[in-house]
Amino acid sequence: MARIVGGMTSSHIPAIGNAIAGELFEDPYWKPFFDGYPAARAWLDKVRPDVAIVIYNDHGLNFFLDKMPTFAIGAAASYRNDDEGWGLKPLPPYPGDPELSWHLINALVNDEFDICSCQEMLVDHGFTVPMSLFWPDRVGMTVRTIPVAVNTVQHPLPTPARCFKLGQAIGRAVESYGRDLKVVVVGTGGLSHQLDGQRAGFINKDFDLMCMEKIVSDPEALTRYSIHDLVRLAGAQGAELILWLIMRGALGGTVTKVHSHYHIPISNTGAGLLVLENAA
Ligand code: DHB
Ligand code: FE
Repeated sequence: MARIVGGMTSSHIPAIGNAIAGELFEDPYWKPFFDGYPAARAWLDKVRPDVAIVIYNDHGLNFFLDKMPTFAIGAAASYRNDDEGWGLKPLPPYPGDPELSWHLINALVNDEFDICSCQEMLVDHGFTVPMSLFWPDRVGMTVRTIPVAVNTVQHPLPTPARCFKLGQAIGRAVESYGRDLKVVVVGTGGLSHQLDGQRAGFINKDFDLMCMEKIVSDPEALTRYSIHDLVRLAGAQGAELILWLIMRGALGGTVTKVHSHYHIPISNTGAGLLVLENAA
């Protein structure tokens, strides 16, 4: 049977992708951020998951304002990125797992989540930046990927409570899959940030740290916020916290925190990282 071995979260700021390309790991601005990641990679080296389900948001590369699915799941054999306007370079394609993708899509629709199934899907920085941080060695990378794109761009956005339930449904779907696979669920984005308008540059460290604690021990507390609460407390793009809640919903009631890291600011954002192990 497939099993969710754990969950990870990471901010997905495009500037990180360019800092990786420029190998700025020891640069004084970047070092305190990058120093958070070796512990996460050490956990992956130990656990060696077969598949990563990556919960992210498309910011206008594959979906635009004319067609914006609330929940979309990739069902392709591979996924590539593209020039999306942040100067990020095209990377080698990421291998998919169409059989598990279709199992997830079937199970979720049966569980009353209406999913847009995508047999072709370009992935943007919301997907590629965390992948580059967690799996920098693309030659040796064996993990297959399933992109799950969630609308955090065009209102109405799905509520935190609905996202947590989607995560729980993903958890049930994985557990019902017959093949013997180790699955890690990655939630990308956040934490607090606002990129536009009068509050551009807004970061709320206290709220971020509270979210990083509650998502481990009491994620239901975070599901009581509305999207507008998140926009007020974490900034317009801080609503990306819903992606972390989907990750957490997919894990069981009890998780062990393996590692956490928080650094502000990276670009306009409070950058948070979590590694959670799922109880067996
Ligand atoms: C930034 C953060 C994001 O989450 C994003 O999607 C784009 C930019 C930033 O802080 O620059
Ligand atoms: Fe984003």
